[in-house]
Amino acid sequence: MDLQATRLPLQEFGAANFARDSVATACVLELAADLPADPMKDFRQMKQRGEKITALTAYDYPTARLLDESGIDIILVGDSLGMVVLGCQDTTGVTLEEMLHHTRAVARGVKQALLVADLPIHTYDTPEQAVEAARKFVDVGAQAVKLEGGVSHVTQIQAITKAGIPFMAHIGMLPQSVREEGGYRIKGRTQSEAEALLADARAVEEAGAFSVVLEIVVADIAKQITRAIGIPTIGIGSGKHCDGQILVTHDLIGLFPWFTPKFVSPEARVADEIRRAASAFIERTRAGG
Ligand code: KIV
Repeated sequence: MDLQATRLPLQEFGAANFARDSVATACVLELAADLPADPMKDFRQMKQRGEKITALTAYDYPTARLLDESGIDIILVGDSLGMVVLGCQDTTGVTLEEMLHHTRAVARGVKQALLVADLPIHTYDTPEQAVEAARKFVDVGAQAVKLEGGVSHVTQIQAITKAGIPFMAHIGMLPQSVREEGGYRIKGRTQSEAEALLADARAVEEAGAFSVVLEIVVADIAKQITRAIGIPTIGIGSGKHCDGQILVTHDLIGLFPWFTPKFVSPEARVADEIRRAASAFIERTRAGG
């Protein structure tokens, strides 16, 4: 079965380039009638209804498929890939090719969730570059893209949304700026930081984002931002008042035991299970079994 073809109707979300062959076109036409006119409106409506939005990261086919089958709303191919999959210190070395490679794999496992991909560092320095990179992600199966920045990146965000590609914003602590900032620091502690965050949130909404990730923002400021804008806020380490929550899946399931952010309460200890299974196999094999 061509798993990519099963996702085609969802790619109606924005992008445009999915009808690459006649079978695909027929598939889209047949099912388009069942689709909501603008699926991005669902997330706004979820916010209005007070329904929390759930989002997790995936970087490979089995994880994506398991999360999708669990009923998650959004799957993000985050550039946290750099740390939790590729073993780098931060996200600043992640390349476009690496992100496309993993997004392609994730897309094969996703049928229900909205698939969002991160634009890696320096792939959106100009609006033209941002659109070019975003289109590459759509070509490999992403339905939306995310980049880091608010007021500073309004022209890039406008260019992406004008190109018909759904966009998720990311403000607060920006991991791609960790080297300039000298570390990961909570945002919104001072009045001027709080005001800047609110301006960022308003700017990305105005530029056409359908949601905004708030990363490590003081909980009360995240709450104020959530009340002030019409698009949903998806928090990570930003308190419980956001419209939804996102986590790096490796943190949630205990698959990266060498570091777990303070704000994460893991639900599983997968690393321990891997160690246990590997030890059992080694023992069994050495015993001649
Ligand atoms: O790269 C990533 O995984 C992210 C989330 C943590 C929001 O951007």
